[in-house]
Amino acid sequence: MKTHTQLVILACLALGIVKNEAFSQQHNNDMDRFVSELMSRMTIDEKIGQLNLVTAGEAVTGSVVSTDVESKIKEGKIGGIFSMSTPQRIRAAQELAVNHSRLKIPIIFGMDVIHGYKTMFPIPLGLAASWDMELIQETARIAAMEASADGLNWTFSPMVDISRDARWGRISEGSGEDTYLGSRIAEAMVRGYQGDDLAAHNTLMACVKHFALYGAAEAGRDYNTTDMSLHRMYNEYLPPYKAAIDAGAGSVMTAFNDINGVPATANKWLMTDVLRNQWGFTGFVVTDYTAVNELIDHGLGDLQEVSALSLKAGVEMDMVGEGFLTTLKKSLDEGKVSAADIDRACRLVLEAKYKLGLFEDPFRYIDDNRAKEVILNAEHLAKARTAAGKSFVLLKNEGHVLPLKKQGTVALIGPLTNTGANMPGTWSVSADLENTPSLLEGMCDALGNQVKIVHHHGSNLLEDAAYQERATMFGRTIPRDERPEQEVIAEALAVAGQADVIIAALGESSEMSGESSSRTDISIPAVQQRLLAKLLETGKPVVLVLFTGRPLTLTWENEHVPAILNVWFGGTETGKAVADVLFGDVNPSGKLPATFPQHVGQVPLYYSHKNTGRPLADGQWFQKFRSNYLDVSNDPLYPFGYGLSYTTFAYGELTLSTTELQRDGKLQVSVDVANTGDYAGEEVVQLYIRDLAGSVTRPVKELKGFRKLHLAPGQSQQVTFDLTEEDLKFYNAELEYVAEPGEFAVFVGTNARDVQEKRFTLQ
Ligand code: BGC
Repeated sequence: MKTHTQLVILACLALGIVKNEAFSQQHNNDMDRFVSELMSRMTIDEKIGQLNLVTAGEAVTGSVVSTDVESKIKEGKIGGIFSMSTPQRIRAAQELAVNHSRLKIPIIFGMDVIHGYKTMFPIPLGLAASWDMELIQETARIAAMEASADGLNWTFSPMVDISRDARWGRISEGSGEDTYLGSRIAEAMVRGYQGDDLAAHNTLMACVKHFALYGAAEAGRDYNTTDMSLHRMYNEYLPPYKAAIDAGAGSVMTAFNDINGVPATANKWLMTDVLRNQWGFTGFVVTDYTAVNELIDHGLGDLQEVSALSLKAGVEMDMVGEGFLTTLKKSLDEGKVSAADIDRACRLVLEAKYKLGLFEDPFRYIDDNRAKEVILNAEHLAKARTAAGKSFVLLKNEGHVLPLKKQGTVALIGPLTNTGANMPGTWSVSADLENTPSLLEGMCDALGNQVKIVHHHGSNLLEDAAYQERATMFGRTIPRDERPEQEVIAEALAVAGQADVIIAALGESSEMSGESSSRTDISIPAVQQRLLAKLLETGKPVVLVLFTGRPLTLTWENEHVPAILNVWFGGTETGKAVADVLFGDVNPSGKLPATFPQHVGQVPLYYSHKNTGRPLADGQWFQKFRSNYLDVSNDPLYPFGYGLSYTTFAYGELTLSTTELQRDGKLQVSVDVANTGDYAGEEVVQLYIRDLAGSVTRPVKELKGFRKLHLAPGQSQQVTFDLTEEDLKFYNAELEYVAEPGEFAVFVGTNARDVQEKRFTLQ
């Protein structure tokens, strides 16, 4: 029974919904009328012009760069510009459009604002390790506030490609291997960027990318073919894109790869059947960088043909390649595309501009005063420091080496010690690299004179100079030391000799992950490993502060180094955040969003694999004629969801409210979690399920819920997850989304490996 007050609240909520619906209906009608009227005055060339997205050439990721941008704006041949970074240039371009083009249609301005604009947050894989949706949403909100003040209104983010292959460099740009975690993060980011009102001057339109399956490139080689069953696509890879769209993402970017033999950028099934018809997407689709032109190399035809294919498949905007601009009119004349195809695309682009409020005020996003107030302000930097601290994952802490005491001398050794430009991480095109503090500078700043810090670069990043050059592009240079290795190490050891503790700042440079940065060997480069071995020989405590944009193979390090803190690339405030965690002001709480393998030969390695018909018996690592390797066990080095804390957490017994879940019922899964150590700390309690028998094979575990707890020493808290039929659904062989009756296992624990298990039955 509901009380009177509850009924009144419900009625008001219902009225609110009706009112909101009425409002949005009115908005849509107004938009339709406005866009239709405008389109009635447009020539075919002007319509095609709206489909053209050019780059200002400041951050290019392909060999083609846009030309004659100014004259094209005046001629109405440009719908959008991206990677134009200064407000002065954006204002000038917008002025050209609204004062000098015939129809005065404003331009949409995009950029890859991926993990921050000027205030840089950890790389997306690092943010995912926080498992903190509120925090992730806030980082996207801050990025939108800063970028919009500088005139931008569109970001090419979130990147929600599931990736289970650590060789693929772009695993750093997404949320890792898991469908459920990835979907929650996708929603949080869209909400953060877009807020409640796209037309607000401080929000950005999101662009979910790369649609679709880009993270499944064969052999982890960037831009490579993907080939995947529909079963896997629907169950594992597509949900995060859908989650972003359900959260309201205004645009979608195509992927470079092919899917089932048809490249994504020409894939009608993907962009029309799935995206529009099945998912109800109403925004616009933009290609990735020159992806239309690349259809020629994919083998689909000449530029005219592939441009027509792509438009008809469901693309609305062509990034950089100008296939649309230069061929669509001819295709229209020859009957290869219809006027309706062009109208559809033009309408959706104009609608996006309408939703952003650009017709009302084309300059609403450029605000010098607001830029001064918000960009890199103290509040944003504080959030960046918090976010970085929460992204770090403590992988090992033998003998409680950490936290360190704020006393004595610390030696900071390694090629990542004093390179500010590498701290923001990959895809930080708008970061001020010159003014980003290095690890050393940030740590000195945070610690003042409480701790004496001595330092040395210790080694080159990579032994091979040419490889190092490829790995430090875009201003991320790390100077080389061309002296013999032994001489450099000897110098570093002399510095380390002065210290009580050694902090080894090693791993990847920021450009060793990201686009076009795939690796076949995913270990710490050998020259750095040799340095690490020498540092360990000193007998002093060594803490490995690991920089990486991907899971690395750390088998040797895990065996020999007492403490390992994985800091990914933490953004502007990396150095301070590392000091916070190493010296115990912040207790690490990050949990891995991607499995760390023992050996690269195990890749792709992920927790939610299928059981196979020949699984290993419990406790065995090799059995003849079972699914395994001769040389390495199937186990990861660190499982998905893993991460240590300075405190300890004890889990009580897992209890279920019932072992029979009715179709319309609810099953409560509860556990008490206690902080049994000496530090306040955060724990991510994870819930997984397994469908034990079904019409199709199901993964051995699937994440279906998580809760992040903050517990003081001695404090305990009960966590309760509600499971319903909805959580047990999957796409069956006919691609129907169903929950099948039968027995399920439910697991709760601190990572995907260390869990308790109970069983229940769905009626
Ligand atoms: C990348 C996209 C990016 C685009 C524009 C491409 O090379 O794949 O993620 O948004 O460039 O910079």
